[in-house]
Amino acid sequence: MKHLMIAFMAALLPVLPVSAEVSVSADSFGCIRDLTPVRGFFVGNLKGDLEATLKVAHSDNGGRYPPGSVVQLVPTEAMVKHEQGFNPATNDWEFFDIAVSADKNEILARGFTEVNNRFGRNCFACHVQADKQWDLICENDHGCAPLALTETMIRGIQKTDPRCEPQALSDEEQAALQQLQSLLEKN
Ligand code: HEC
Repeated sequence: MKHLMIAFMAALLPVLPVSAEVSVSADSFGCIRDLTPVRGFFVGNLKGDLEATLKVAHSDNGGRYPPGSVVQLVPTEAMVKHEQGFNPATNDWEFFDIAVSADKNEILARGFTEVNNRFGRNCFACHVQADKQWDLICENDHGCAPLALTETMIRGIQKTDPRCEPQALSDEEQAALQQLQSLLEKN
């Protein structure tokens, strides 16, 4: 009887999933500064393998980010890596446009090649410009057209994530955020 049980269990083993899929909800995101800073952006890993994500993020010649990787430059936009083969067109990255406030996140848009940011610009169309070895990560020297935001504006946006503990802004960051505000009002 015992032998039969073992044989039965062994027969089941091959059908168990090798790795669980990456599931993402509004609760997957929080204060951007609780993620790990890498140069100007932040990373995390929803599967707990931060080390594997950091290895690629810090690699001098790029590489493929592991499943579960979360990458953010600003609180309202995120890229999350799914299992290999999930969406080959985007190298398995899913794009998110997130409305954030102190107590909750709301996912306004999520998906693959079709997702636009709230200014109507397509995430993938910009990120696919990155040279192949960078796995759709643009930074400022991977071949993507630059953002219309200055580095100081980006720092200011990161420091004013409403989900984080308040952090003081420098005079330059304050001025940059005011400039950004008036640019947005004109558009
Ligand atoms: C107009 C082109 C453009 C659009 C549209 C765009 N991005 Fe980006 N994104 C960039 C560039 C360029 C950078 C790098 C900026 C820097 O580091 O100075 C960047 C940075 C990022 C980063 C940090 C990692 C990296 O690639 O450097 C993430 C994550 C990101 N964008 C997600 C998104 C998501 C999600 C959307 C859509 C909701 C989106 N982006 C739309 C051009 C774009």
